[in-house]
Amino acid sequence: MNKPLLLSSFLVFILSILLLPHLSKWSKLKVAEVADLLVTNAFIYTSDPSFPFANSMAIKNGRILGVGNYSVLQELEGSTTHKLNLEGKIVVPGFIDSHLHLLYGGLQQMMQVELHGVRTKQEFVMKIEAAVKSKREGIWVVGGGWNNDLWGGELPMANWIDDISPQNPVWLSRMDGHMGLANSLAIKMAGITKETKDPLGGTIVRWADGEPTGLLIDAAKKFILPSVPEPTIDERREALLRASNYALTKGVTTVVDMGRYVPGSSAELPWEDFTDVYKWANTSGNMIIRVCLFFPLETWSRLYDLVQKTGHVVSQWLYLGGVKAFLDGSLGSNSALFYEPYADDPDSYGLQVVDLDDLINMTALSDKSGLQVAIHAIGDMANDLILDVYDSVASENGERDRRLRIEHAQHLAPGSATRFGKQGVVASVQPVHLLDDAISAEKKLGKERAEHGSYLFHSLLASHSLLAFGSDWPVADIDPLNNIRAAVTRIPPAWETPWIPSECLTLNNALDAGIRASYMPIFHGLQEFSVTFLFDCVVTCQYLWQDHLRIERGNLWMNWKGIERVNGRQLPPMGGSMILCHRRIYKVVDLLTC
Ligand SMILES: *[C@@H]1O[C@H](CO)[C@@H](O)[C@H](O)[C@H]1NC(C)=O
Ligand SMILES: *[C@@H]1O[C@H](CO)[C@@H](O)[C@H](O)[C@H]1NC(C)=O
Ligand SMILES: *[C@@H]1O[C@H](CO)[C@@H](O)[C@H](O)[C@H]1NC(C)=O
Ligand SMILES: [Zn+2]
Repeated sequence: MNKPLLLSSFLVFILSILLLPHLSKWSKLKVAEVADLLVTNAFIYTSDPSFPFANSMAIKNGRILGVGNYSVLQELEGSTTHKLNLEGKIVVPGFIDSHLHLLYGGLQQMMQVELHGVRTKQEFVMKIEAAVKSKREGIWVVGGGWNNDLWGGELPMANWIDDISPQNPVWLSRMDGHMGLANSLAIKMAGITKETKDPLGGTIVRWADGEPTGLLIDAAKKFILPSVPEPTIDERREALLRASNYALTKGVTTVVDMGRYVPGSSAELPWEDFTDVYKWANTSGNMIIRVCLFFPLETWSRLYDLVQKTGHVVSQWLYLGGVKAFLDGSLGSNSALFYEPYADDPDSYGLQVVDLDDLINMTALSDKSGLQVAIHAIGDMANDLILDVYDSVASENGERDRRLRIEHAQHLAPGSATRFGKQGVVASVQPVHLLDDAISAEKKLGKERAEHGSYLFHSLLASHSLLAFGSDWPVADIDPLNNIRAAVTRIPPAWETPWIPSECLTLNNALDAGIRASYMPIFHGLQEFSVTFLFDCVVTCQYLWQDHLRIERGNLWMNWKGIERVNGRQLPPMGGSMILCHRRIYKVVDLLTC
């Protein structure tokens, strides 16, 4: 493929940022610096093509002093240096998730009604019935995670659950967060009737007579969300702790948190989370992963003022990233915006959830203020509209490294993939979603349209676009290996062959997007992150790279799980991989030396 070209485009940049600081520090350090920790006898994947693997790594004050061969790094060893012999184990940089919703991820694990993976209407109803029974009359029952595609596509209606919830209002979000089901009591409390008009960018799903069915799409959720009880501060703090711990068990050490803002919800939520949860965690020593925060675009001036005061780097754990907006909804909720109507709903092209002039205006102002902009676009028309917006903003505000992002970039019109490369727009993609979407995309778009334009990772890379992987957790699980596997194989569950095989990535390209390139969209403060680039790392339980990742009959196998055996002693399973990162490093040392 175009690997040499792709790599060369990153290489200069990455090398200059990652290596040169080390090298220049390097020459200064030679005599004086003594490492706190020297990791030796490891198999370290540097993802730097000029020396992809090294055996040693020196760390001081939580930052990397050098990565290379022991013969060179041993100069950094002093009497206080702790040595950690990894006995040949593979070490990769900590994974970065370029797009997720961290507190929603944690809250989902604490949720009253968890509907992920529910495969039948009966199971759906039973779960809600059980939750209602545990509540006093009048108390809200709140949950989410359902996916109607898992039971054949039929959308749930209030009348599925009205009989079992006569005295309790119920609100259940779809797994993509773009649609939710209210029972009739909740619809009544929200004052939604057949006379209520659809808001801009939202749909009240109705029966033939105009009465609401209970489903509210995108902006229409605003009728009900103000009455749904918000999680308390304590619950949100617990959610952050749970979510961060969970991320670490999957090898994720840095995330871009797109926050709790979705169409129809309040733009205040991410700000409240910043104040109540993140600042609290930052000052109380509860941050254990690095988090880059995005805030709603409409609040850009507030972020600008804050950045003026504090800079982008709040601490080594917390980082003020940029601003995020939505242009359309999701495919699963028939609200992604397309040029052609939905095959299963010929009157609908999807929804544009914002006013385009406002979007252009706010994007231009944010960009002018130096804030990075990320906009959600799923349908082909939505993607083109954003590419146009970015094009006009770039020509208006002049040339610079701005790394504007399109979130999802899921369905593209012919020729649009090349525009990402030309315009230097980051394609922030979630390969793992294609496993869910392969079947529904053909139903909703028709086979041919789906196959021409869905999840065009190869085409995007071929046009030198910057691909960054994210999970959109809790929409999909946070495990970064799922993305790499999905991008390479494109084989949905129960399928034998890939969906759109010409768009499969090579393993090297997928690793590049999954490990290295995901640093790129974290824009300002990259320097601060990059100094610790390999310090946040994952020690795997495997010894041979080729055992670790192999492709067999079109399937990618990853052996990251297993039980460590060190000095003849069996260690407890670590839920996948062992993490070496700031708070954990001595834990691992203890384990290895006990
Ligand atoms: C490390 O050592 C190996 C073999 O001893 C050698 O082939 C390789 O070039 C060295 N790498 C670096 C980066 O010095
Ligand atoms: C975050 O924590 C750092 C270090 O603990 C501290 O210097 C900084 O003031 C904190 N910032 C905020 C906004 O809490
Ligand atoms: C953009 O919005 C600002 C603030 O609402 C307004 O003053 C300005 O005229 C708008 N600019 C354009 C080009 O619409
Ligand atoms: Zn998202």
